[in-house]
Amino acid sequence: MARHLITSAIPYINGIKHLGNLVGSQLPADLYARYLRARGNEVMFLCATDEHGTPAELAAAKAGKPVADYCAEMWAVQAELAKGFRLSFDHFGRSSSPQNHKLTQHFAGRLADAGLIREVSEKQVYSHADKRFLPDRYIEGTCPNCGYDKARGDQCENCTKQLDPTDLIDPRSAISGSTDLEVRETKHLYLRQSQMRGKLQDWIDSKTDWPILTTSIAKKWLNDGDGLQDRGITRDLDWGIPVKKGEEDWPGMEGKVFYVWFDAPIEYIACAGEWAEAHGKSDADWERWWRTDKGADDVRYTQFMGKDNVPFHTLSFPATILGSGEPWKLVDYIKSFNYLNYDGGQFSTSQGRGVFMDQALEILPADYWRWWLLSHAPESSDSEFTWENFQSSVNKDLADVLGNFASRVTKFCRSKFGEEVPAGGTPGEREAQLIDDLEKGLRDYEAHMDAIDVRKSALALRALWVLGNEYLQDVAPWTTFKEDPDAAAMQIRIALNLIRFYAVISSPFIPDASAQLLTAMKSEDAEWPKDVASAVKALPVGHAFAVPEVTFRKISDDERAEWQERFAGGRR
Ligand code: 2FM
Ligand code: ZN
Repeated sequence: MARHLITSAIPYINGIKHLGNLVGSQLPADLYARYLRARGNEVMFLCATDEHGTPAELAAAKAGKPVADYCAEMWAVQAELAKGFRLSFDHFGRSSSPQNHKLTQHFAGRLADAGLIREVSEKQVYSHADKRFLPDRYIEGTCPNCGYDKARGDQCENCTKQLDPTDLIDPRSAISGSTDLEVRETKHLYLRQSQMRGKLQDWIDSKTDWPILTTSIAKKWLNDGDGLQDRGITRDLDWGIPVKKGEEDWPGMEGKVFYVWFDAPIEYIACAGEWAEAHGKSDADWERWWRTDKGADDVRYTQFMGKDNVPFHTLSFPATILGSGEPWKLVDYIKSFNYLNYDGGQFSTSQGRGVFMDQALEILPADYWRWWLLSHAPESSDSEFTWENFQSSVNKDLADVLGNFASRVTKFCRSKFGEEVPAGGTPGEREAQLIDDLEKGLRDYEAHMDAIDVRKSALALRALWVLGNEYLQDVAPWTTFKEDPDAAAMQIRIALNLIRFYAVISSPFIPDASAQLLTAMKSEDAEWPKDVASAVKALPVGHAFAVPEVTFRKISDDERAEWQERFAGGRR
């Protein structure tokens, strides 16, 4: 038994995530966590909401709520949807937790003591009416390039030109509309990442087994002159973690908070502390996952994320950890994903384009989505969701191949032998062949799961379902029964056992169907099969079972057309 720490990139608090977000981190992380648990490992699987920064403030303002209330509500919504998708987090935390406040301030203090933080004076726009400095995107005005009158201080939405707030004509505050603005000097903290280039280079070079997508992005940023520039880690915002040096005040930093990308990854650690608190555990209980001086040296740590997050996880966060000089656990393996597109375009939160997590669950149960998303995960390139493809995957893989197998076998047995595993007959060559094929297939599936090759794993699992179907097709117990009922009983005995076998090995992908099939087979033995020869004998002669309810239903052409139409317009 090994110990595995798994984290998924923590989703922004502002709004419900779409299926593209889901398949880019949380869902594959869940697949891996479930698989490792099923194989008997000790797993700590953590995720949280990413609650700070301008987007959270803006979303709260739009909803007309204090930002703390907005975040608390949206955390509950996201936690409920995570449950709906059966994401099996050991804890779903919040980056605004007291644990993260303390730890973020602690890291800043350590970095300062190590000489890795410098103070920089900058010119920034101050709004007298709002009594605060305005981040670039909080300033609006007329674009000097195209004349658009709602251009933002960082970019003009109309002509896409990148702007500086001082470029805007007639600038005003996006919060109050006030034009009473002034450019003032303000101090900020910069993390001297450039000092860490050598260490980071050595560390990344040592990761020879990482996926190409992860290493290529990491190396591009590391070697590109701009990639490892010193980086501002403070902001002039109200909402966030107040800038402190450990527990001490930081002179000149009053009223400032840490930049959201500084505190977000630290939440991976703080989340373990939140888990401990929620379960009445001690500090030692969470530190054994995170401190190499307290037991975490034998932990394997895997992170899941979309490709846009890779630079922060391969450079910035490791710079924080290494720079602290303390024995925190560094990530061992980073699994990153390309983008999932939606029906000829992109999923877009701001435009409400695509299918969002709440909408998906209103239409169909989690397993349907889990199966499609995982079997089409954007690993080697971007992939695309289309309703046609979704319909055909569900109808073929889930309904025809897996669901139909379970229903045919149990119904046939019930009608000819009753609702228990029938006696009689002796397995022959065809059965030996089946066991042999399944054995090879199972090892293949395990190898892909161990390597976190998500698509290949789905293919390998499906191939195992197909082997059972082919066997049934070949031996045709419904025909055998007429001449040799004993032989038919033996064939059905094997097939009933295969239902249990499939339930166990499919559970990381489709946990609900898996539980339903295990219940139908009246089996509590969900242990991962050691070998197929014994797995096909696990349910002995006389063992009772029930015919399961429909495991997977088919999606009709009418439904497909209706959904396609309903989601074409966008969400808001
Ligand atoms: O891209 C995102 O959705 C970010 N909220 C991910 C943060 S991951 C980590 F650093 F915490
Ligand atoms: Zn413009």
